[in-house]
This record gives sequence, structure tokens and C-alpha cells, in this order.
Amino acid sequence: MPEPMTEDDLTDVVVARLEATPDPRLREITQALVRHLHAFAKEVRLTDEEWLAGIMFLTATGQMCDERRQEFILLSDTLGFSSLIDLINHSDVEALATEPTILGPFYVPGSPERAFGESMVEYEDGGEVAIFRGVVTDTAGNPLEGVLLDVWQNAATGFYAVQQPDEQPATNLRGRYLTDSEGRYEIRTVRPVPYPIPADGPVGQLLRDTGRHEWRAAHIHLKASKAGYEPVTSHVFDRESRYLDSDTVFGVKDSLIEDFVAGPDGVLVCEHAIVLASATV
Ligand code: BEZ
Ligand code: FE
Repeated sequence: MPEPMTEDDLTDVVVARLEATPDPRLREITQALVRHLHAFAKEVRLTDEEWLAGIMFLTATGQMCDERRQEFILLSDTLGFSSLIDLINHSDVEALATEPTILGPFYVPGSPERAFGESMVEYEDGGEVAIFRGVVTDTAGNPLEGVLLDVWQNAATGFYAVQQPDEQPATNLRGRYLTDSEGRYEIRTVRPVPYPIPADGPVGQLLRDTGRHEWRAAHIHLKASKAGYEPVTSHVFDRESRYLDSDTVFGVKDSLIEDFVAGPDGVLVCEHAIVLASATV
């Protein structure tokens, strides 16, 4: 006897077929995926042509990927899915700790180790000089020495070094810094600028088709880590930047927005306190 095949019972039939999945987590994920995928198609009454357009879109997304370009993550980012995963997995860290936000595609491990106050500018492109500094503490306010801050940002042209291998030195605007005995860090850099995410592929087309822009608010990326503490991947956003209210990858959080203010010598300073929660065992 063939299994029943009406719109009303097909979902249960497929879910039942997955019941034999030996790994319980894989079973849970695949069954839920089938339920939600079927519900989505039923809700929008997906046509044959739309189904095929979706397949072609995902195919093009895969074809856009190589070792330097991850179009699927870009898709996840622009649908708010990456930020949702971040919220699901990192919201239980102590409320006082620095809020995380997405990693993005331009992180490159192995940035040069740089001294306190050292500049990470290796290529002059007219960017506005700025000092990025602050104190890293635990959630009780005790300064933390030896916290590793892995920092990266874009140049005044809007591009990260990794996007312009023939233009910028590979380590431009990237660096690994350590906090001093009072928990302080200080980085000489340039003011980040808003920039468009790579929009020459299917994700860019989808943004245009849905009337959205492709811009991120100006930010500096950081990863902060120290043994015994929960590592955090986060950003600092420039309060004067455009797109804070419409960042195309939904990465902006209020607590991560800071001022860039001219100091007595006229050089811009951005102060950002970072708080690490103790590692959960
Ligand atoms: C970034 O901030 O570097 C980024 C994040 C998501 C997509 C594209 C770029
Ligand atoms: Fe970025």
C-alpha cells in the first residue's frame, strides 16, 4: 500500500520517514526543517515557477562561493538569520557582559601582535586618524590584564585589506593587542566608514529586488578573549554613522554604539569599555 500523498498528510509521512535517524539531534533538526519548509510552501501557495526560481537562486548562491567568498553566510546575514543564531546562543551570558554581534566574512586569523598604542594603519588612504581605547573588566568591574583583543576594520575606501589584496598590505587595519596591568587597551587607527556588503552576487540581487540597501553602519570589529572568561565577538559602532537604524545584516546593538570625539590634540578618540563574563564550566 503506498503511503497517503495528500497535501494534508504528506508532511507527517516525511517526518515519519525520518524517525529512524540514529542521531537524535539530526532527527530533531531534519524533522523540524521538513515541518517548517512544508508549512512555508503551503502558507505562500508556492507555484512550480517559484519553486524553480528558489532552486536556481540557491544554486547561484553556491556557485558564488569560493575560498574567499561565502555567499550562503551573506544570505544568512542579510536575512537576520546569523543575528538570530547569535541571540539564541549568546544571550545567556551574564547581562553585564559586552554584547556579541556577528563575525562577518572579513575576519582573518593570525593578525600581527601589536604593542599598546601602536598604529594598525599600514597604508595611507586619507582616513581620519582615531584612537580606539578603553578598559576590559570582569562583570564586577575588576580590570583584566592580558586580554587578547583581535581587531579588524575597513579603510577609508570602505574595503577591508582582505578584499583588496593587490592594493592594501594584508595586515592593514588588523592587529592583536593585549590589555595592560590596569586592563587598558589602546589602538591607533582610522575612523571606520559605512560600506556596502559584497552585492555583485545573488544576495545583492535579492536586496535590490526587495527594495533594500546593501550598507553596513561604520564599525570596528573585535574578538576579546582570556582564559577563564567567555570570549566575545563584537563590534563598536560610530554614533555618527549612517545606517545605524537599518544595518543590512542586523548587527547593531545599542550598547555597542560609541562616540568619536576630538581630544585636546584634535585627534579623534573612541572609548569603549569591554566586559567579560567568567567562563561557564
Ligand atoms: C562585516 O561586518 O564585515 C560584514 C558582516 C556581514 C556581511 C558582510 C560584512
Ligand atoms: Fe565589518
